[in-house]
Amino acid sequence: MLYSSYQFPKIRFRRTRASAALRNLVSETRFSPSQLILPVFLTENSQSEGISSLPGVQRWSLNDLPSLLNQVSDLGIQSIALFPQVPAERKTQNCEEAYRDDNLINQALKVIQREAPDLATICDVALDPYNPHGHDGFVDADGRILNDETVEALVKQAVCLSNAGATILGPSDMMDGRIGAIRDALDADGKPDQVILSYAAKYASAFYGPFRDAIGSAGNLKSDKSGYQMDPANSDEALREVAADLHEIALDLAEGADMVMVKPGLPYLDIIQRVKDGFGVPTFAYHVSGEYASLKAAALNGWLDYDKCIWEVMTSFRRAGADAVLTYAALDLAQLWHRQNGTKS
Ligand code: PBG
Repeated sequence: MLYSSYQFPKIRFRRTRASAALRNLVSETRFSPSQLILPVFLTENSQSEGISSLPGVQRWSLNDLPSLLNQVSDLGIQSIALFPQVPAERKTQNCEEAYRDDNLINQALKVIQREAPDLATICDVALDPYNPHGHDGFVDADGRILNDETVEALVKQAVCLSNAGATILGPSDMMDGRIGAIRDALDADGKPDQVILSYAAKYASAFYGPFRDAIGSAGNLKSDKSGYQMDPANSDEALREVAADLHEIALDLAEGADMVMVKPGLPYLDIIQRVKDGFGVPTFAYHVSGEYASLKAAALNGWLDYDKCIWEVMTSFRRAGADAVLTYAALDLAQLWHRQNGTKS
């Protein structure tokens, strides 16, 4: 059709914007609570505790976890991602705690299997909560991250988590070759059906700050993660992380990942769109701690309308092509969704 036939006054966009019912009829982007993934921090302490740089978010004790699980299920959220705060005295260079069968994550998995067996769990595969320096891998005397040695440890951690019943393993460490190594080890261990979510495009971002407070690694980190996480300036490289070549077989995908994560979220919407359009694989976005905290801080100052902003953020992720979104606002968004849709939560 010629553009000339698209002209005012025959065309008035406001006609279909006149009421909520009309707007909903023509809305191109929607989400539902099943597309929200709630990140959950865990503490070994008997009481749950707040996190000052993440208002509204807590570290949950195992005692209190069932009440959170109830809330999550009531709201129709079907997956959560678990992150531990390991006591400083059990953080070691070799990260033994990461593969201890009875560690905090594995204990939490038991609680979840008992209280909310239908919930999907995503468990981080990375060493940062488990060592005194806060890096995702082993570090040599010069402060370099040892890729291949780290991959061996990640494999142990992955098998340990899989044994404990994690639904989805999420390697977020950005070591090269880890997806293939983990997939091979799982196959050798008789676990061919274990789902792997690769954090394929994870940028060395300053937006991770509050998360590092939450797991207690912030003060320990003496250098940034630019040596192994991606440069925020690069986009083609993200596709290479996901795939060897757009037209060839996907690298992480060929290595056996089932879904991929782009992280952080809003500053990287273009990457989400390229990955989704390029590969057509399940693509998740991580709306990370600093993104959430900056919104929340502005809202607490009365500078932004939190509810409207998080709704817009979620809509933007979906518009860019994200299938699901990890966000600290998941409970709030699900509540808003129920209010909007007239369903009682
Ligand atoms: C580390 C990990 C990080 C996050 C998730 N897993 C931080 C980092 O890479 O230092 C950040 C998530 C957030 O900021 O919400 N394996």
